[in-house]
Amino acid sequence: MSAAVDAIYRNATELVTMAGPAPDPTRPFDSAPLGVIEDGAIAVRAGRVVALGPTRDVLASVEIDPKNTCVFDCVGAVVAPGLIDAHTHALFVGHRADEFVARIEGASYADIAAKGGGIARSVRELRAADDERLIAELAARLRRMRSFGTTMVEVKTGYGLDTESELRSLRAIRAASERAGVRVRSTFLPLHAVDPALRSLPDGRRRFLERTMSETVPAVFALGEGARPDYVDAYVDTTGFSVEETRPLLEAAKRAGVAPRMHVGQFADIAGAELAAEFGAKSADHLEHVSDEGLRAMASAGTVAMLLPGAAFSLGQSMPDARRMRALGVEVALATDCNPGTSFVENLPLMAAFAVRQMGLSTVEAWWALTRAAARSLDWEGGALRVGGVADVCVLDMPSWRALPYAVGSVRDKFTRA
Ligand code: NIG
Ligand code: FE
Repeated sequence: MSAAVDAIYRNATELVTMAGPAPDPTRPFDSAPLGVIEDGAIAVRAGRVVALGPTRDVLASVEIDPKNTCVFDCVGAVVAPGLIDAHTHALFVGHRADEFVARIEGASYADIAAKGGGIARSVRELRAADDERLIAELAARLRRMRSFGTTMVEVKTGYGLDTESELRSLRAIRAASERAGVRVRSTFLPLHAVDPALRSLPDGRRRFLERTMSETVPAVFALGEGARPDYVDAYVDTTGFSVEETRPLLEAAKRAGVAPRMHVGQFADIAGAELAAEFGAKSADHLEHVSDEGLRAMASAGTVAMLLPGAAFSLGQSMPDARRMRALGVEVALATDCNPGTSFVENLPLMAAFAVRQMGLSTVEAWWALTRAAARSLDWEGGALRVGGVADVCVLDMPSWRALPYAVGSVRDKFTRA
């Protein structure tokens, strides 16, 4: 077998390894966490990094076989760990653009949901679609996300809500990941909304919770290795489920060994952050409304704050205050929340632009948010480039790491087209 490397990315204007120390909240502009190497290169064999450093040194240290080595010329671009989108509802069909227009005209998210729109509408549309449509729409979306530099996407269920539709959603997520060639982590979100088929029945909410716990949750947690979801989620909010309604799901997940990541505080603080911390959630997501106590509990539990500027923007809310979270010792990640209702966006670098201008993150912290913090929330070794580590890279068509937020919405992967 040839010792030649499989791929080499060379002459990057900058190689951003993200292998530095975690950003210090009191020195947010220190660029050490980025581990930048100018005129950098990275060599890959069997999916692992075999060398990285200045291009001259890497070329001198590895064997290149013109027939077997893919050579990527990265002049004028930034090579970095693939970006990680750790909160999406990307498994959906169609769109809800009319609801966005209604909100611009003054309707609230809750008004629209009360009239049968919102999550319930996407549930009806998903159930009416066949498997091929589910897989094709998600695979196309994953490929577009990849074209923005995203190489790992967390995808939630939650537009199924009955046992069969939730199981079908989990299968579609895996199939779409394979078809698109994009890494995915799946999250089972049974408590997203009350099943629209039960909602109007007498006692519908109680029946839904009862059915979810006695039927849907056991069926999903009984799935074998490879079919099981990686995480469990619940929407803990005034528009979703209470702490008391959510607790049995978290207990069942704990018994099954499935870690939570949770929607909390999007519209009101009902102590969801404290609940997330109590159950050792990987992340507490949204956090437009959260107390200092909730944030302190998250900091002690190591729960990542997953901030979703696309949702706050689309709902016309003020952005969560990331600076306050950092000051209280919380690690911050950013994700698109890609969904048809509150965040119809696939562009992860754009989230960095919102975060540095409107949430108080530094550009260094925004990089950390899309790589290391997101990777930690997904228990993944990616998000950094190190010799011996996973060779998961993006090549961003921009002149410097400083351009990730600066090139607002225009950052693309140089070698990937949707
Ligand atoms: O993260 N908060 C709940 N879930 C989504 C919205 C889903 C939808 O409206 O379809 C969110 O914003
Ligand atoms: Fe969400």
